[in-house]
Amino acid sequence: MMRIYETANYEEMSRKAANILSAQVILKPDCVLGLATGSTPIGTYDQLVEWYEKGDLDFSEVKTVNLDEYRGLTRDNDQSYYYFMHEHLFDRVNIDPANTNVPDGTEPDAEKECDRYEKLIDSMGGIDIQLLGLGHNGHIGFNEPDSSFAKKTHCVDLTESTIEANKRFFASADEVPRQAYTMGIGTIMKAKKILLVVNGEAKADIVAKAFFGPVTPEVPASILQLHNDVVIVADKAALSKIPAQA
Ligand code: GLP
Repeated sequence: MMRIYETANYEEMSRKAANILSAQVILKPDCVLGLATGSTPIGTYDQLVEWYEKGDLDFSEVKTVNLDEYRGLTRDNDQSYYYFMHEHLFDRVNIDPANTNVPDGTEPDAEKECDRYEKLIDSMGGIDIQLLGLGHNGHIGFNEPDSSFAKKTHCVDLTESTIEANKRFFASADEVPRQAYTMGIGTIMKAKKILLVVNGEAKADIVAKAFFGPVTPEVPASILQLHNDVVIVADKAALSKIPAQA
């Protein structure tokens, strides 16, 4: 089932998403959270930190697995997703760093690292709730449009449009890594719940396509229509192009 919450703006989207994640943490203090990077979830993390500081949330037993990591970036590179997660969440709450997991972008053997990561998720008992953003081309994690759905954690070649979209964070487009390790569509679909956050008019077309169009690997997020427990939290602008009867 797919439930869509419409919010007035980014702040409300962030608060709603944080509410859903904190409900999970309160119900199951040792849950496995699947986490995401990108600019969209930053407000969600800020809100979780605020509630943690107020004493309403305890991350001491929480375990996390991140969706993806650029291949070749070291942890101390400020564009690595490892760095991002520490900056926006892990260093600001009482999570045990030993319980946090991000694919190791510095492992040159892609198959070895991806296999390790997939097995790690299984050994943790699977993901209780997976947070997702949405790429402009419909990618989730770094699962780019393709002719088939990738099942497991794997190494991907980033598309030109993703390199373009992400170059704003680097000194130049040349510095954006060309590859990444990412959970596969199958890995994501195994999560017990999915929470996707999306905001802004620039995502309105892809939201309509992904969630109201045909399920196709050319729009990776469209597969979520087949998951039985998906919550989409989107602002008004991101929902501005969905079909009227929806
Ligand atoms: C990146 C990430 C995705 C993210 C997407 C959208 O490439 N790998 O996980 O959802 O881009 O990012 P943003 O939220 O900044 O639009």
